Amino acid sequence: MSSYSIKSLEHYFKVYRQSVRKPKKFWSKIAENNFTWYRKWDKVVEYDMERAEFTWFKNAKLNITKNCIDRHLANKGDQSAIIFEPNDPNEPAQHFTYSQLYAEVSKMANVLRAQGVEKGDRVCIYLPMIPELAFSVLACARIGAIHSVVFAGFSANALATRINDSTCKLLITADGGYRGSKTIDLKRIVDEALHKSPTVEKVLVVKRTHQEIEMREGRDLWLQPLLDEAPPTSRAEMMDAEDPLFILYTSGSTGKPKGMVHTTAGYMVYTAYTFKNIFQYNEGDVYWCTADIGWVTGHSYIIYGPLLNGATTVIYEGTPSYPTHSRFWEVVQKHRVNQFYTAPTAIRSLAREKIEYIQEFRLDSLKVIGSVGEPINEEAWHWYNDHVGNKRCPLVDTWWQTETGGILISPIPFVTPTKPTYASLPFPGIQPVLMDELRNEIERNQQIGHLCIRYPWPGMARTIWGDHQRFIDTYFTAFPGKYFSGDGALRDEVGYYRITGRVDDVIIVSGHNLGTAPIEDAINEHQTVAESAIVGFPHEIKGNALYGFVVLKETGLWRDRQNLMKEINQLISDQIGPIAKLDKIQFVSGLPKTRSGKIMRRILRKIAVGESDFGDITTLINPEIVEEIKKGRT
Ligand code: WT7
Repeated sequence: MSSYSIKSLEHYFKVYRQSVRKPKKFWSKIAENNFTWYRKWDKVVEYDMERAEFTWFKNAKLNITKNCIDRHLANKGDQSAIIFEPNDPNEPAQHFTYSQLYAEVSKMANVLRAQGVEKGDRVCIYLPMIPELAFSVLACARIGAIHSVVFAGFSANALATRINDSTCKLLITADGGYRGSKTIDLKRIVDEALHKSPTVEKVLVVKRTHQEIEMREGRDLWLQPLLDEAPPTSRAEMMDAEDPLFILYTSGSTGKPKGMVHTTAGYMVYTAYTFKNIFQYNEGDVYWCTADIGWVTGHSYIIYGPLLNGATTVIYEGTPSYPTHSRFWEVVQKHRVNQFYTAPTAIRSLAREKIEYIQEFRLDSLKVIGSVGEPINEEAWHWYNDHVGNKRCPLVDTWWQTETGGILISPIPFVTPTKPTYASLPFPGIQPVLMDELRNEIERNQQIGHLCIRYPWPGMARTIWGDHQRFIDTYFTAFPGKYFSGDGALRDEVGYYRITGRVDDVIIVSGHNLGTAPIEDAINEHQTVAESAIVGFPHEIKGNALYGFVVLKETGLWRDRQNLMKEINQLISDQIGPIAKLDKIQFVSGLPKTRSGKIMRRILRKIAVGESDFGDITTLINPEIVEEIKKGRT
């Protein structure tokens, strides 16, 4: 039996054992049999967990778009590769067959080349969820340019920081974007960002909303006329296995965002293999992931994973509740979706609404439903399982990260029995371990620990753009010889994993990974603020919401609280984006600190949820502040 497609629990255990005992042989077989290479590898993997150096498929040559597109042309040229479902339900959906995808990507690749983009150059993509976003990503990969997609909900400042960090040469954007009932002025945001981003020489603009925008001469070009002139065929650049494919930024617990670098061959093999098994995708199925391509979920499981398997993948422009709370189900019915992959926050927001919103629709096409981005609570799990999956579709709770490139822990549908709130078992090739505070491995079951991975896998990030030391420090130092995820997990009596949440200063709000430090930096920019600390607290829909404790320079300013709160949230919106706004702000006269000056977030977290057992607080330099903050809790 091929190990590419896992068919039973017994088969899974067999494949898993092989993948641990002989990882090189295991990955070599997967890579050998399922992809097109210009040249095969000399060595499957070389690694050094201390220096965080990883080489997969050494010296192999390939182009990932040959694997995503060209090789399907002979058999699937007329099959839909992409179905585009617009924000407005009255605007017709668009189907792009594999042949059309080939032509669109080729034209875009030719335009990029004509604009002087070369192999290794960085291209920033700041687009709404429209087909051009997928075409742009693939066009970069076609010519060997490194794409850096920035989620179109990020502010001008956040965009500028990301462009500058990876010194992008060209940027692709749109006049505007539709999101539910709102229009986002993307080009205006880009114009503002580019005041601070001198490396961008050219801006290509897609027409989407037809709103009026400024076009700067010599820099900005409408994309369509260029595409109309471009030939619909293109040469695929020959890439080395370890050439960077893309950079994607993720928040860290300190300082500026981390540009995670993913490379070509390993990422390709890993996303393809996980997609195939975790969604049990079969020929002819229609697959829909509701994430935005601005996040890693969209990279790996809207674009690369599905296309590598010759799948039909849906790109949806809008939101879960536009124009009504039925929209997701309407789209499932309309396109006869077979696999549906979404986030707990979306499930929670839809589960709050009347059941009629879902009952009116036929969801019988569904075979597998998936969840990603944060822990899925029991109630949401059951609602999703009962009302969407109709208790007949396996629910795959998939755990992974921007850094991991693809899913690491997840049930395999029809293979692994599911258990509510458990991501269950590691995917073949993945060796999780739980570590205690003393850096010892926890071998017994039914224990909680820091979730680490003890052996490399092909899809893992290779470095942080421009800062390898930070890569080592963040992921390979806390537990020497292992990759540390930053998450905690529980392993139950049969070895199933349940992710308990972040153990560092990252907070997941509505499935968005937010670092506390950048938010605090934004708040501290307010002229009246001395310092601040952010913690998360449970929120019915968002999973977590943000609670800010803010110390003002002069206590006299406390009177104008309402206005101050608004201004602080505006600053956060400007610096990061509206997703990082605070739900609660409490003005305090000081923050609990240790003698070395470290803010004790543990105590603030307890105050935020209304707990009053703070444990030992005598090590604080200002223990009296705790009572004061507790009293003023909002
Ligand atoms: C963090 C990574 C993975 C793509 C989207 C988010 C949390 C992710 C789960 C899950 C519990 C999860 C973790 C992880 N997370 N999936 N199924 N169960 N927690 O990528 O922005 O890099 O965030 O999301 O805390 O570390 P990301």
